[in-house]
Amino acid sequence: MTENKLAIIVLAAGQGTRMKSRLPKVLHPISGRPLVGHVLTTASRLGADHIEVVVRHERDQVVEVISAQYPDATIVDQDEIPGTGRAVEVALDAIPDFDGDVLILSGDCPLADAVTLTAFVEEHRSTGAAATLMTAVVEDPTGYGRVIRDAEGDVDRIVEQKDASADEAAVHEINAGMYVFRAQALREHLPTVGVANAQGEKYLTDVPGLLRGAGDRVAASVVSDVTVTYGVNDRVQLAEVGRLLNARIVRHWQREGVTVVDPTTTWIDDDAKLAPDVTILPNTHIVGATVIESGAVVGPDTSLVDCEVGADAVVRRSEATLAVIGAGATVGPFSYLRAGTILGAAGKIGAYVETKNAQIGDGSKVPHLSYVGDATVGRGVNLGASTITANYDDVNKHRTEIGDEVHTGSHTVLVAPVKLGAGAKTGAGAVVRKDVPAGALAMSVAPQRNIEGWVEKNRAGTGAADAAAREQSAE
Ligand code: UD1
Ligand code: CA
Repeated sequence: MTENKLAIIVLAAGQGTRMKSRLPKVLHPISGRPLVGHVLTTASRLGADHIEVVVRHERDQVVEVISAQYPDATIVDQDEIPGTGRAVEVALDAIPDFDGDVLILSGDCPLADAVTLTAFVEEHRSTGAAATLMTAVVEDPTGYGRVIRDAEGDVDRIVEQKDASADEAAVHEINAGMYVFRAQALREHLPTVGVANAQGEKYLTDVPGLLRGAGDRVAASVVSDVTVTYGVNDRVQLAEVGRLLNARIVRHWQREGVTVVDPTTTWIDDDAKLAPDVTILPNTHIVGATVIESGAVVGPDTSLVDCEVGADAVVRRSEATLAVIGAGATVGPFSYLRAGTILGAAGKIGAYVETKNAQIGDGSKVPHLSYVGDATVGRGVNLGASTITANYDDVNKHRTEIGDEVHTGSHTVLVAPVKLGAGAKTGAGAVVRKDVPAGALAMSVAPQRNIEGWVEKNRAGTGAADAAAREQSAE
């Protein structure tokens, strides 16, 4: 049945002038995805036969993102004729044989979810109208097209704000910019839409009035939750819409069993996955494709970008990117895990530690003030406070290999490339430039020499000399 065919047209050709940005409006990200990406993710869930995105402004930048991330969407280029009506017209011209229903969405309206849109399409189909508009009754209709109804309360036409009379402008029912049309209705009327209006554009919003004039019915679906209609035209709206979307994502995970202590300061990207009984403490950002397993506690004041956090791990006041934190491991406070960090089960990265491209074995500890980069660390290792891998010689990066059960003394410098065999130890302050065999103790610091009476002789009259004299006379 052709009636059940669905094409989705996403409008993304506009300029987005009010963003005042080098980045095209529809590419501004919220919840880890560009605005148009949210619309396309939702569109892909509706089982449509075609998804088309209409582009023009900064076309190459927009197309690059869409073809890389949403290969199912077809790109359609709008020509120099401006307006939403022209955008839909070129999209329909690209699918000349299609004659089902056309769902029209805006690339700058990311809050319309799949449940709302599925119900919207169903409603259109059940009424048999030629077109169904999504509308909302709002306190402040400024900037939107107004929905003008006739004496019977049926939709008569849409008037853009800039073309509205005072009476029309006083209407609080607005056009949300999402529609379902029968393809045939658009093909028939769009060619007759002109540009004789305040903006000199071919308005899609002229079509409902033309349909009425031809005796067709136009239905309206009034949404109860106006937030699904919110669009982004400037940076203020970008933040508002971003906060609403984040609140929705946080609520979703709370309902899945995640404890979120402070939803207003917790930011979770759309692609992240959290298991039941995860706890998120305030001021925490869960970014990208981060996955957190059951029982883990993350935060406060923590950012995880594309990380994996194992069951029952604890990550406090730290930042990590492309890191894997093993089950039962602990991280922080105040540490920085860079790409390629893999911390084994029950391992520890403590306070003020930076790691990069470092595989740290199960049960191994890097407790304080260390840098571990380009290193392989075995199991049960303890790197003493302030152990540093000197991995860079100004030209190349080199690896450090540390065997199982190695313990380094405080302030050890491991000058890579270097290898410490299993069970080896280093003395405090050792500078290790040569490989250490398994079970050996590496010392590089000269034996200590005490010069008796040095302070009395060289610093007479100071507090130190007085204190030394007092201690000596007491002995
Ligand atoms: C549009 C509607 C208005 C509605 C509002 C809801 C028209 C004429 N007006 O106004 O009734 O209340 O949305 O948010 O449709 N676009 C193109 N090609 C163009 C122009 C725009 O693809 O030539 C795209 C834009 O990128 C955007 C969408 O269409 O995604 C809407 O355009 P915009 O300029 O934001 O329209 P509004 O003034 O918001
Ligand atoms: Ca808009």
